[in-house]
Amino acid sequence: MAIRILLVDDDDTFRRTISAALTKRGHSVAAAGGGDDALRQLKDAEFDVAFVDLKMPGMDGLELLKRIKAEQPGVEVILLTGHGSIPSAIEAIKAGAYDYLTKPCELAELEAALHKAAERRDLAASNRRLTDALAREANYQGIVGKSRPVRDLIALIRQVKDSATPVLIEGESGAGKELVARALHFDSSRARHPFVVINCAGLKEQLLESELFGHVEGAFTGASKSKEGLLDVAHQGTLFIDEIADMPLPVQAALLRVLETKEFRPVGSTRERRVDVRIVAAANRNLEEEVAAQRFRADLLFRLNVVRIRVPALRERMEDVPLLVGHFLGKNTTAKARGVSSVPPEGLERLAAYDWPGNVRELFNIVERAVLLSPQGTIEPSLLSPGPRRAGAATESLDDAEKRHIAGLLEKERGNVTRVAKVLGIDRRTLQRKMSKWGLSGTL
Ligand SMILES: Nc1ncnc2c1ncn2[C@@H]1O[C@H](COP(=O)(O)OP(=O)(O)OP(=O)(O)O)[C@@H](O)[C@H]1O
Ligand SMILES: [Mg+2]
Repeated sequence: MAIRILLVDDDDTFRRTISAALTKRGHSVAAAGGGDDALRQLKDAEFDVAFVDLKMPGMDGLELLKRIKAEQPGVEVILLTGHGSIPSAIEAIKAGAYDYLTKPCELAELEAALHKAAERRDLAASNRRLTDALAREANYQGIVGKSRPVRDLIALIRQVKDSATPVLIEGESGAGKELVARALHFDSSRARHPFVVINCAGLKEQLLESELFGHVEGAFTGASKSKEGLLDVAHQGTLFIDEIADMPLPVQAALLRVLETKEFRPVGSTRERRVDVRIVAAANRNLEEEVAAQRFRADLLFRLNVVRIRVPALRERMEDVPLLVGHFLGKNTTAKARGVSSVPPEGLERLAAYDWPGNVRELFNIVERAVLLSPQGTIEPSLLSPGPRRAGAATESLDDAEKRHIAGLLEKERGNVTRVAKVLGIDRRTLQRKMSKWGLSGTL
C-alpha cells in the first residue's frame, strides 16, 4: 500500500535519508524544512500521514500539528521528538497527534508507526462514509426520519413512484404531504418533466376550472386571451392537486373524466385535449366523510383511492424529532447566521414533551423562533416549550383555530346552530358534525 507522506524536519540529512528510504519502499514522500513550507504543501496535495519534528526554528512541531489538524483533520500526524521531550510529546497526543517517536529512530520503527497510522486513516475514512450513508438514508428526497412509520412511508413511495396511477395523500396539516408529493415526482421517471401544483382551497369554481383546463379567448368575461391549463403545463410530469376536498363538485366531475380517459376540454372550447399527467392529490380532511356529506363524489374518491398514502403525524413518530431539528438547523439560514447547529439535551426534552398538533411545520417554526430569540450561538431551552396554546397563537393548528372560532360564534349566537351555520356559510349538518367532534353543544 503506497502511503502519501509529508515529512517535516529542519535537519537536512535526516530528511534526505528518510525520504529516500521511504520512497524506495514504494511510498510517495514530500519533504518540508519547516512549518510554513509544510502548510503550503498541505494546501496543494493530500496526505495520509505526516512526520513532524517537534523542535524546529520558527513554527514548532506542536503548533504545526494544530494547524494540520485544523486544515486536514484526516491526516494522521506522528511527532518526532528529541531525547527527553516526553512531556511535550504527551501534550502533542492530546492535541491530536497519532503517535510519537524518539529520535534517533530506526527505519523499521518509523515504518511500523507509519502503517498503523495509515490504517487508522483508512478506518476513519470508511467510518465517515458509513455515517454519510446513514445520514443519506435518513433523508429520502428531503423526507427526514428513521422511525418505523417514516421508513414504511418511504418504502411505499418507492414502490409506487414510477407508476402512472393516481395517488391520494392524506395527513394532518404540516405533516409533510407536499414533501411526499414532491418525492413521488422527483424520484420518478417523470422527474425531468414539470411538477405543477394547484391548491383548491379558496378557488371559486370558474377560476379553478380555467386554471386546470385552460380556456379559449372569449370563453367568459375577462378571458381576452386563450390560456393553457395546468394539465397541459404538467404534460408528461405530475400535477399535484392540493386540498382536493375543497374542489367544487362540477370540477370534480371534469377531473374524474381526465382520470378515466386522459381527456378534457378547455373552458369554452369544443376540442378535446389529451395529456399524459400523473395526478397526485392531497387532503387533510377525511374524504369518506366528505362523500357522506355529499361534498365529494364517490366515484372520484374511488378513482383516487388506488394508491393511498397516509403521512403520519409527528406525534406518531416522536423519535424523529432530534433528527428533524438537526436537519432544520443545517439548512435554515437564521440558524446558520446565528451559529446554532444543535439543541442542548434539555431543549430536546422539552420538544419531546409536546404533542405537535401543527406537526413538522410547527416544530420548525418553534425552533426557528427559539434560535432568533436566544443569545448568539446557542438555543435557550426554555424557548423550546410551546406550552399551553394561547388563543390565536401563531402555533395554533387550523383545526384548533376553527374550533375556537366556532365556539365563539356559538356563544355569541346563544347556541343557535342554524344562525352560526349561516354566518359561516356552511350547511347545518356540517356544522353539527364539527360540533360533535369537539363536544360542543347548541340548539336548532
Ligand atoms: N419528514 C420530514 N422531513 C423533513 N421536513 C419535513 C418532514 N415533514 C414535513 N417537513 C417540513 O414541514 C413543513 C410542512 O410540510 P408540508 O408543506 O409538506 O406539509 P403539508 O402536509 O403539505 O401541510 P398542509 O396540510 O398545511 O399544507 C415543510 O417545511 C416540510 O419541508
Ligand atoms: Mg401542503
